[in-house]
Amino acid sequence: MQLAQGPTLTPPIPPSSVDPDWVLVAHELTKFYGRGSQRFEAVRQVSLNLQQGSVLAFLGPNGAGKTTTIKMVAGLVRPDRGWVRIVGEDPHRHAAALRHVGAVLEGNRNLYWRLTPEENLEYFGVLRGLSRRLARQRGAVLLQRFELETKAKIPVQKLSRGMQQKLAIAVALIHSPQLLLLDEPTLGLDVEASQTVKALVREIAAEGRAVILTTHQLDVAEELSDRVAIIRQGHIITEEPTADLIRQFSGSTYHLAVEGVVPVQQQQAIAKLGGTVTGSDITFAGSATALYDLLAALRPLPILSVQRDRADLTQVFLKLMQSPEIK
Ligand SMILES: Nc1ncnc2c1ncn2[C@@H]1O[C@H](COP(=O)(O)OP(=O)(O)O)[C@@H](O)[C@H]1O
Ligand SMILES: [Mg+2]
Repeated sequence: MQLAQGPTLTPPIPPSSVDPDWVLVAHELTKFYGRGSQRFEAVRQVSLNLQQGSVLAFLGPNGAGKTTTIKMVAGLVRPDRGWVRIVGEDPHRHAAALRHVGAVLEGNRNLYWRLTPEENLEYFGVLRGLSRRLARQRGAVLLQRFELETKAKIPVQKLSRGMQQKLAIAVALIHSPQLLLLDEPTLGLDVEASQTVKALVREIAAEGRAVILTTHQLDVAEELSDRVAIIRQGHIITEEPTADLIRQFSGSTYHLAVEGVVPVQQQQAIAKLGGTVTGSDITFAGSATALYDLLAALRPLPILSVQRDRADLTQVFLKLMQSPEIK
């Protein structure tokens, strides 16, 4: 497996900040924390652009700057440098831009634990500018869709962690935002609840909303995202389509298995093509085209399987984290 040559960074020229296709344009966001000798750059020049219906997995180890970036996008933390446009509007200048954003930050801070799901949806709906009636209506639809109708009148603190998380997402969607920010949405959930949340994220993107998902559960990122941005020490080191990233790190070795042992004559033909035979297993590190020659050489042995080494996001991530720090 080879390490990518250089990270593909977001192009220096941001997409037009008024182009409605770009739900989010975040340009070179930078944030310092601390004072005096303690001062450090928690986020440096992070650019993220998102189109309608796309899911960006924002990955990085603890302390890398994911939450700080999300909070800058959500208008909650003011960047020291850089700017944000959400559907062309700047949330740091015009709070009204936040009508396009829904966020679930760490620790379910968008729910009132003593209130019921129904009450939370209504309360936050009104807070986001809906009429009480519309908030109730939309709340009812969301409760049904998230399979929480039977829990509508139970205080949030009595619900399971998975139900609370679903409700947190429902609340974030009450005003039908175009951009949904999910900070570690599956953290602490059991397998079943994680699956439910993943399915919901997929549906939400299919409706045309853009989603940023921070996670350190790489399987979640791999399943859900169209693109991956990896942040390390405040800096984006890679930003690419998920499939491209995985492909780059995938090997080009094929593993084939046939029924029975490969006869000596065929073993020689395979060796000529560059393959290695061990009993009924063949390893071949050639091109996809050359693979057909190899398959022809195996004729008429029944082929049981052909597999190509494929990296997963976990391997990609670990490789990138081990690479020398990029300054
Ligand atoms: N309010 C704050 N004041 C000072 N330092 C902070 C604050 N919030 C986060 N940090 C620091 O900034 C860095 C990035 O944190 P964070 O954005 O929470 O990372 P992540 O979400 O990737 O784990 C960390 O070193 C963290 O300790
Ligand atoms: Mg965080």
